[in-house]
Amino acid sequence: MKGVILAGGLGSRLLPLTKITNKHLLPVFDRPMIYYPIETLRNAGITEILIVTGGNSAGDFLRLLENGDELGVKINYAYQRGEGGIADALALARDFADQEPICVMLGDNIIERDIRETVARFSASDQGACILLKEVEDPERFGVAELKGDKIVGIEEKPTAPKSNLAVIGIYMYDGRVFDFISTLEPSARGELEITDVNNAYIAAGEMTFGVLDGWWTDAGTFESLLRASKLVAEGGANRLG
Ligand code: DAU
Repeated sequence: MKGVILAGGLGSRLLPLTKITNKHLLPVFDRPMIYYPIETLRNAGITEILIVTGGNSAGDFLRLLENGDELGVKINYAYQRGEGGIADALALARDFADQEPICVMLGDNIIERDIRETVARFSASDQGACILLKEVEDPERFGVAELKGDKIVGIEEKPTAPKSNLAVIGIYMYDGRVFDFISTLEPSARGELEITDVNNAYIAAGEMTFGVLDGWWTDAGTFESLLRASKLVAEGGANRLG
């Protein structure tokens, strides 16, 4: 399976840190943020990776990562104009995916352990989509899953009254139809093509499965979560390249 890391967006919640660089190049403890999702994919046996980035610092990814040789992966690049949302960034991976299943990871997500088992399970069927959930204390910050029995029946993006405390983390597996679903989307109230709408389309089609992540997970897109990410990595665990 190929991997896609989404590292576009303006990182406006981290201004002024992101005024002259891309969020995913900022340090998380002793490595640039982008190293962690690369390592997570590599640990799962995914070595052919597309990085979608944007803004004025796109060239810095190339200078930092080159072709990926030093990190044991093969890196391709795509450029997202503006900040049209996660699904808008993912649409740029269509040719790279070439109708094969893909594992998509948000560039600001960091996990302690690995996703090998979930990736292997999804690769075995290669059908539909699979997401990972994690129990959190502040579900209103995330996409939140609603479960009925062992089925996922819906996801709400940043709900004011969350139906569970299970956040949808930024690791998604999709079959080749994901790009057809994306092409039917309309921008949300915040003007973005939402990954939650893509996931709800798979749920409506009865083709979404999920796993619950072991170990800690954090995003790193706010000052609080960026600090938490550095602390968690410094305390040990986490995927580490180099
Ligand atoms: O971290 C998990 C959460 O990520 C999920 O629970 C939510 O359902 C999902 O919508 C997303 O929420 P955020 O509001 O935290 O997403 P954010 O705008 O911070 O974007 C996350 C990453 O996606 C970012 O690090 C880079 C990438 N991205 C984002 C946008 C808006 C792009 O590549 N292009 C974009 O236009």
